[in-house]
Amino acid sequence: MKIYRILLIITFLLFGSLFAREITRSTVPSEIYKGCAKCHGKDGRNIAYGRSDEIAGQDVEDLVESINFFKDSQFGSRGIIHVMANQVKHLNDEQIEALAKYISNLGKKKDD
Ligand code: HEC
Repeated sequence: MKIYRILLIITFLLFGSLFAREITRSTVPSEIYKGCAKCHGKDGRNIAYGRSDEIAGQDVEDLVESINFFKDSQFGSRGIIHVMANQVKHLNDEQIEALAKYISNLGKKKDD
């Protein structure tokens, strides 16, 4: 009987880690940003849907604030803000901070 319980636990652990990886996806900002680039552009200078500002070169704190605003927003399934909420809701604080630094630097690289 004991062996079944152990097998069960191992199965849970295996599935658990697969699932966790699926949700967090990459922790590398340049990898995460590939998804953002579809709307914001590779260099972060697109005006997404004619609404956003250029995100490249914004202050890290501003970017973190914007991203968390979208992440925490409760606009249900309607509205353009939902588009952004879907992009960032799976990111944790660490990923958001790293991503914000990456985007902020996109601007700097371009300028000099
Ligand atoms: C499907 C298109 C789309 C994708 C993909 C997308 N965004 Fe956006 N983003 C938008 C739109 C549209 C807005 C403007 C929302 C508004 O003002 O209501 C926006 C706004 C923003 C803003 C605020 C910019 C400002 O100052 O006006 C930030 C920061 C941002 N996005 C970051 C990201 C990040 C980081 C990702 C990737 C994780 C991402 N976006 C992916 C469409 C997208």
